[in-house]
Amino acid sequence: MTTPRRIARAAFESVDKLFDRAFTPAWNPLYHLGTLGWFFYWIVIVSGIYLYIFFDTGINQAYESLEYITNVQWYAGGVMRSLHRYASDALIIVMMLHLVREFVMDRYRGARWFSWFTGVPLLWLVFACGISGYWMVWDVLAQYIAIATTEWLDSLGIFGQSIARNFLNSETLSGRFFTLMVFIHIAVPLFMLLVMWIHIQRQRNAKVNPPRGLAAGTLGMLLLLSFIEPAVSQPPANLDIVPAVIDFDWFYLLAYPLLDRLPGLTMWAVAAAGTLLLLLLPLLPPLRHEPAAVVDLDNCNGCGRCVEDCPFSAVSLQPRTDGAAFSEEAIVSNNLCLSCGICVGACPTSTPFRRTSELVPGIDLPDQGIRALREKTLSQAEKLTGMARIIVYVCEHGPELEKPENDQVGVIKLPCIAQLPPAFIDFIISRRHAEGVFLAGCAEGDCYYRLGQQWVDQRLAGERDPYLRKRVPRERIAKCWAGITGNRRLQRELTAFHDQLKVLPPLQQRTSSPVDEASAEQSESRG
Ligand code: HEM
Ligand code: SF4
Ligand code: SF4
Repeated sequence: MTTPRRIARAAFESVDKLFDRAFTPAWNPLYHLGTLGWFFYWIVIVSGIYLYIFFDTGINQAYESLEYITNVQWYAGGVMRSLHRYASDALIIVMMLHLVREFVMDRYRGARWFSWFTGVPLLWLVFACGISGYWMVWDVLAQYIAIATTEWLDSLGIFGQSIARNFLNSETLSGRFFTLMVFIHIAVPLFMLLVMWIHIQRQRNAKVNPPRGLAAGTLGMLLLLSFIEPAVSQPPANLDIVPAVIDFDWFYLLAYPLLDRLPGLTMWAVAAAGTLLLLLLPLLPPLRHEPAAVVDLDNCNGCGRCVEDCPFSAVSLQPRTDGAAFSEEAIVSNNLCLSCGICVGACPTSTPFRRTSELVPGIDLPDQGIRALREKTLSQAEKLTGMARIIVYVCEHGPELEKPENDQVGVIKLPCIAQLPPAFIDFIISRRHAEGVFLAGCAEGDCYYRLGQQWVDQRLAGERDPYLRKRVPRERIAKCWAGITGNRRLQRELTAFHDQLKVLPPLQQRTSSPVDEASAEQSESRG
């Protein structure tokens, strides 16, 4: 990670921590920016449909119909109008934060380019929706937008006639372009929905709904704001007068003051260059491509757990190609794989108990394989002494230990904490390789590989295959989800865990028999 990005990421994490305290990690809005985007989109659509029922689309009637909605029907139409406006503003805020956050957290390069790339048109579409919406009010702000936008479009020189001419004065005013704007304001959101759907296609189990509590709280805030500060129109448009004072919307119209000062073509060049730069950002520079996960057919029974757990839809099942007795086999798409290793942690064959001379699981990372993980674990364990030996597995995107390895603590890094098959924890404790296992990774609710942390929690709680066997004493396992700024917390919690292990009764040597080993292996393969 480069130094500027590390600083930016640490800054984000510091704000995250404040929000964690205020909202809890489960409801922290900064971890749900994408889903909040969807949520605001739906509020805009529902309130928009209501408004459309009472809105008159004629240029001479639009303003009056909105006055009716706002003032006469204030209890329903007025609230809907305010919700429509404030949810649109909120959509801009969460979208911008989402963009910056994905960039700072480095979740936009490599196989993730697709989500980034399809996010860029969403920027244009959201602005097009908002600007055309303000236009429809046909007040002095709409008048300003209509003239500034059409002059900007005219500067392209591609339209046969000047569009801005429509808005020269009340005589030249034509309803045609206004009607087109109404059409755009309805068609663009529909198209946007399609792009939003495409945007999340490469994410397995993509979340599109924020947690219920967060959704309810956000809606409540918007409703409250709608009653305290209802959205209203400004004086009606009059093309014969240049309006002296206009209340501005800085969310959607941020660039408009520049349109007044810079030539239209310059603004087009800036917009085009900005868009191109954003589109190319995943290549500037590209992410170093680690080798993708590989399937070993001799060890794959086609159970599909890797498919279920891969956060990036990089594994799928296909009909068996090797004539083995199973109907399907796993296949990895190299272009989609981020080499996180989560699939390796999900595969029932990734168990250190296996007696086979070569530990080759059904799916594995070529450079950070499960066999090497077993060897590292054993060599770290051998160096440990004392009555409270701990093996720490820490994710590369999580915190760093201030005082790393010593004779009580062995540290092993993983691309993602979910690469660790739960059988390793069982193996370490039942074979007395250490008294305890400590897992550390990204901040709670903000896993770099989206789902790794969630899968680990579920596997350890026995809710997801491959689950941690019941026989493993839970007081010998600790987790710390802390992010890159959580070094001190990690150290503190590790020391506390060490103290806890010291007072536990010594581990009993488990007498292992071939039956025991076989059952350990089978329990990991059930399902
Ligand atoms: C209306 C606007 C947008 C909405 C509603 C939206 C929504 C979402 C959602 C729901 C996800 C999946 C979250 C998950 O389950 O992990 C996502 C991922 C993503 N979005 Fe957006 N997005 C929007 C705009 C953008 C923009 C403008 C960009 C950047 C140009 C962007 C970049 C990304 C990236 C890179 C990911 C993938 C993150 C990962 O792989 O972990 N999005 N978005
Ligand atoms: S989890 Fe392992 S055994 Fe199951 S389909 Fe994937 S590679 Fe094959
Ligand atoms: S390494 Fe990660 S991205 Fe690649 S196939 Fe496995 S789970 Fe999917």
